[in-house]
Amino acid sequence: KEIKLFCPATIANLSCGFDVLGLCLDNAGDEMIVRKVDQKGVRITKIVGADLPLETEKNVSGVAALAMLETLDELDFGFEIEIYKHIKAGSGIGSSAASSAGAVFGINELLGRPYSRKDLVQFAMQGEKLASGNAHADNVAPALLGGFTLVRSYVPLDIIRIDSPEELYATVVHPQIELKTSDARSVLKQNVSLKSAIMQWGNVGGLVAGLYTKDYELIGRSLHDEIVEPLRSVLIPGFDQIKQTAYENGALGSGISGSGPSIFALSRGKETAEKIAKAMSDVYEKMNLPYEIHVSKIN
Ligand code: HSE
Repeated sequence: KEIKLFCPATIANLSCGFDVLGLCLDNAGDEMIVRKVDQKGVRITKIVGADLPLETEKNVSGVAALAMLETLDELDFGFEIEIYKHIKAGSGIGSSAASSAGAVFGINELLGRPYSRKDLVQFAMQGEKLASGNAHADNVAPALLGGFTLVRSYVPLDIIRIDSPEELYATVVHPQIELKTSDARSVLKQNVSLKSAIMQWGNVGGLVAGLYTKDYELIGRSLHDEIVEPLRSVLIPGFDQIKQTAYENGALGSGISGSGPSIFALSRGKETAEKIAKAMSDVYEKMNLPYEIHVSKIN
């Protein structure tokens, strides 16, 4: 018995929502096969498209799977996982989250769904902890639940799925450098000023309200980051130009995707999203910098 999965890429943070907001892309992601086998335990049998460890304890899929199985009565069978990576590690669109979420989702299906999708988030987070040193849920939650998600609280874990308007598209450009999440977290300050915090939580509330009320203008006004973006954007080549280009071509908002170096723009309608993709491409072409670009509906 086996299951074939699409493990979606995700955009975490969404400017104002560091470590709490994220969204799921519908056409960028990895593939995975999870198979029920006689041999007990979890084995990663194949990884195509990336140089990642096959050892279960060193692989984010393996660690997430083990975290889940530890909570269940011992099974007299086990699982094999094959991973076909399309999302590059260190790209900022949730490569480790896709693998962590895929493994627990697949095993849960093969076990007849002992857990809800929301329950699975806590296990997938253990993969994120291995990858970045921090068990953040803002990529794994949208990868498992789809659409937009909010981590209202980490302790206790409280994940909320947020409704969003139909015509919202994301354009994501990945300048071909690798930026480790752990490195991008090390540049952050541990304290924020009250003034910055007020602006930030105003925007988080505004973004969530805009999504629910399908108010595209409000979504756009709320996509700002007072706290993290100023510290991280210096690590990303061409960041200011890409962002400016996105706005000039009709983006509602633009910012760093996850911990970067990918940069996202949200827009209303596919046509605008594609126009932004073209304009972003032109910027990196002119800079002679290799890049990859995706336009995706948010799903
Ligand atoms: N919220 C995390 C960070 C996402 O920005 O460090 C990492 O993909």
